[in-house]
Amino acid sequence: MASLQDLIAQLRSDFMSELKEASHSKDFESLKVKYLGKKGPIQALMLELKNCPSQERPHLGKVINDIKEEFVLHCERSLERCKAQELDERLKQEWIDVTLPGRRIRKGALHPITQALNHAIEIFVSMGFSVQLGPDVDTEYNNFGGLNFPPDHPARDMLDTFYLSPELLLRTHTSNVQVHTMRYHKPPIRIIAPGRCFRNEDISARSHVFFHQIEGFYIDRHVTFADLLATMDEFLAKLLGKKVHTRYRPSYFPFVEPGLEVDVRCISCNGDGCRICKHTGWLEVLGAGMVHPNVLRMGHIDPEEYSGFAWGMGIERLTMLLNDIKDIRLFTENDTRFLTQFS
Ligand code: PHE
Repeated sequence: MASLQDLIAQLRSDFMSELKEASHSKDFESLKVKYLGKKGPIQALMLELKNCPSQERPHLGKVINDIKEEFVLHCERSLERCKAQELDERLKQEWIDVTLPGRRIRKGALHPITQALNHAIEIFVSMGFSVQLGPDVDTEYNNFGGLNFPPDHPARDMLDTFYLSPELLLRTHTSNVQVHTMRYHKPPIRIIAPGRCFRNEDISARSHVFFHQIEGFYIDRHVTFADLLATMDEFLAKLLGKKVHTRYRPSYFPFVEPGLEVDVRCISCNGDGCRICKHTGWLEVLGAGMVHPNVLRMGHIDPEEYSGFAWGMGIERLTMLLNDIKDIRLFTENDTRFLTQFS
């Protein structure tokens, strides 16, 4: 069987020259498959053994096995060496300089209006009020009619109100929650209602079509005007500090009688007069009043038995006053240079 010896010698020299060419671990893997795999030449030789005379088989078998082991050893050693090299290279490339300063992670924060709302809610909740939410899109009745607005009241006008249809509108104030609340709850009622409001006004530094209010609504037996004054004083002292001075001025809202506006002594100049209070020494912060008997009647509450008060406070204006913010449009522009100042 000189031809087998020749075959093996040829096989070895082919293998060795391919081994020299190989440089990547993938090359060695495929070399292994090519020479030692099921369809490779070594396996073919093994199959050939069957056709050899039986007395030569042990010797030939050993020769084939030896070359097989030789190939395996070559492949494995090269692979090992190659993988170690490749790992070295990868480690060099992926090296991280742990002494570099880290990237700063910027923390998010609540919007200043959300923060102001939360602060006011916290105070009213501590005074025994619970939070009630109402819809931004509501009926003309819930926003106006049920609140004793006469049919021809100018606030209902298309110029002030965004109508979605003859019957549906974007609420112009959070007072719509009064109507909703009376529909589902019997007195005693003691709620606040924070939320979005919309009015069709020219957008300027001082006014916007979109803003926030907190409504308050309190109905029970024997609720008096003195309760209203005390509640407002207590809230404003908690919000602005114990030394705040309040002033109550008569005003008109169709759903309260009497109606009033509440001012606080200017927090910037303490009453001396400055740019912020337009040199009056006072800042207007909310509207309030005793709930009109008509509103109670429409809410199926007997005004002979029950009385109450309501108030509504604009959040943007108050936040602007407290933080010396000069343009209401900043709240809706999402400029992070502005917003991060409140984080
Ligand atoms: N809804 C009124 C407004 O938007 C505020 C208000 C609420 C006044 C409750 C009196 C009572 O101006």
